[in-house]
Amino acid sequence: MPLGATAIQWSGLHMRNVVIFGAQWGDEGKGKIVDLFCEKFDIVARYQGGHNAGHTVLIGDRKFILKLIPSGILHPGKRAVIGNGLVVDPAALLSEIESLEAAGVDVAGQLSISNRAHVLFPHHRTMEQMLDAAIGTTSRGIGPCYEDKAARRGIRVADLLDREHFGAQFEALAQEKETVARAFGIMDPPDLQQIRARYEGYAERIRPMVCDTARLLNEAIRAGKSVMFEGAQGTMLDLDHGTFPFVTSSSASAGGASTGTGVPPTKIDAVVAVAKAYVTRVGGGPFPTEALDAMGDRIRERGNEFGSVTGRPRRCGWFDVPLMRYAAMLNGIDSLVVTKLDVLDELDKIPVCVGYRCGRHEVAEIPPTSRGLETVEPVYECLPGWQTATAGISRFEDLPENARQYLAYLENRTGVEIGCVSTGPERNQTIVKRGSRFENLFS
Ligand code: GDP
Ligand code: IMO
Ligand code: MG
Repeated sequence: MPLGATAIQWSGLHMRNVVIFGAQWGDEGKGKIVDLFCEKFDIVARYQGGHNAGHTVLIGDRKFILKLIPSGILHPGKRAVIGNGLVVDPAALLSEIESLEAAGVDVAGQLSISNRAHVLFPHHRTMEQMLDAAIGTTSRGIGPCYEDKAARRGIRVADLLDREHFGAQFEALAQEKETVARAFGIMDPPDLQQIRARYEGYAERIRPMVCDTARLLNEAIRAGKSVMFEGAQGTMLDLDHGTFPFVTSSSASAGGASTGTGVPPTKIDAVVAVAKAYVTRVGGGPFPTEALDAMGDRIRERGNEFGSVTGRPRRCGWFDVPLMRYAAMLNGIDSLVVTKLDVLDELDKIPVCVGYRCGRHEVAEIPPTSRGLETVEPVYECLPGWQTATAGISRFEDLPENARQYLAYLENRTGVEIGCVSTGPERNQTIVKRGSRFENLFS
């Protein structure tokens, strides 16, 4: 199937500005969903994170893993924006551009990079390796780069492109890092002049794609164009609302779409969340419904739950209603896409966490500390499985009765509409529920 082609036919034009983001701990299948539904949008914009993200898109027998570049880039002619809320490692970006261009994608013609995004340097990775232990980060230097941003000493893309001033800014940042490295006993400081020259080279290669993307987006919206905002990571990894400190360093919730692109909240029309039919998490941190038994291993194998960036095995567990209700409150979800339903096909019963207890007491709110969340005991309801293949089903009525019951149960318990269900990694392995708010948004 050619890039841009899809097996699903859409009718009508209902252009709006929509955020698509993860409702759990990342890897919910955002890449597949953004790629599939961005067809009707003019622009796809990433608003936070960096190359810690790994968004998989399967098109026929071709597999793409997008890290910094929005998943919409695979649609010819579609504008893809790297917003101001991202941290950009130019080496990672250029390598991603090269591999996409080798696959026939016109990245240079489609990609715009914010002049206000922050630039990630090799010492950010070094700092992370020195400091991160329990969080289990992706080791890409994302946190330290955001630290420099928050400390107001970071270097932005516009600074990198400023030939006269970049040198001085880089020297100041590098000197400070060298002092820290010495304090940590690192005796072998990197060759700063070589790094500086390398970054000056990167600057020239990305220069034609850099602009004021907030202006680009706002002018496009004023001209009647539509924007899809693509979140990375997920709500429970959000710096403010996630399982702090076991989080990423950016605003991965839907609210980040506004600050991370410069598009005002009043211009965002809808919020669509993506969640798996179960839950996974990579790295450390509390995970109340984690299945540490053979069932967890079974889901990992069947769902191929290994990190698309780091290859690390993902921790697997059961759908967590209290966490989804929390995500719904924080994000104001209009509709939910449930992915990987097919992974549960073989199970004879499926536990769903419907509440938390602590001893004899019901826990009504999500505890604010990770220690608190670690101590809750999930209360499960067991639903009957369907033990029939759902892989590839593209009409709701064709799902086995128990699969429909499972989805209806999640919908009732969470209070969030499930408007779309994914039954496989391919574009056409997708169900859009007729009459749903989701269908209304995307058709
Ligand atoms: P993202 O980071 O949210 O874009 O998700 P990832 O790409 O990291 O991980 C999702 C994985 O699940 C990818 O390998 C997808 O190809 C795959 N996937 C997405 N939707 C489905 C589905 O409905 N069923 C199955 N079996 N795999 C899926
Ligand atoms: P996508 O966009 C899943 C996790 C890491 C670690 C924590 C902090 O593909 O869903 P970081 O390197 O960001 O400082 O790591 O966040 N993490 C992700 N987990 N999917 C991701 O991205 C993730 N990006 C970061 O494993 O626990
Ligand atoms: Mg991923």
